[in-house]
Amino acid sequence: MDEKSFLEFLRKRRSIRLFKENTIDESQINEILEAINLAPSSGGLQTFEIYQIENKETKEKLVSAAKDQTFVAQAPLLLVFCANPSRSVERFGDRSQLFSVQDATIAAAYAQLTLHAMGLSTVWIGAFDEKQVSEILDIPKGQRPVAILPIGYENEKPKEKTTRGAKDLLHIIN
Ligand SMILES: Cc1cc2nc3c(=O)[nH]c(=O)nc-3n(C[C@H](O)[C@H](O)[C@H](O)COP(=O)(O)O)c2cc1C
Repeated sequence: MDEKSFLEFLRKRRSIRLFKENTIDESQINEILEAINLAPSSGGLQTFEIYQIENKETKEKLVSAAKDQTFVAQAPLLLVFCANPSRSVERFGDRSQLFSVQDATIAAAYAQLTLHAMGLSTVWIGAFDEKQVSEILDIPKGQRPVAILPIGYENEKPKEKTTRGAKDLLHIIN
């Protein structure tokens, strides 16, 4: 893919909050994982864990942990990305806290782009109660949920996107 096509690909990725009922099969999940497995990570240690949820009751519990964002339960599949600093604390000390959040974030961003390439859709869910999500999923102590990705086939056309504009992002220091 040349860089123009890549920019066009990025332009077309949008957050989707309404999904068709079609389910996601195991081979699709494996493809997403293959891509995530290629993401850069702190010291190459991949200090994150991913939880797969398809159970309706669990999804509904997550809706209430996520400020009643009902579309979380409407998606056929949820992937929850958690930071796991215990995988690098010996090597990076206190820095492993931040690094593991960054690793989980990059992994989720890779997942978002891979889903887009596969013709699937998602939205990053960050507004949730961390403690409640950890309890619902019985996540081991020390791990920290960073993002919930509800995944499915798009069933809405998002409004046009507004941004700060590319130039506004950069501050040149002399
Ligand atoms: C850290 C983070 C947290 C977010 N949390 C939520 C959320 O809880 N609920 C939601 O509907 N969208 C959430 N979003 C999605 C953003 O609203 C969305 O990415 C943004 O409006 C830009 O739209 P686009 O993804 O279509 O380009 C979050 C995005 C990020 C990166």
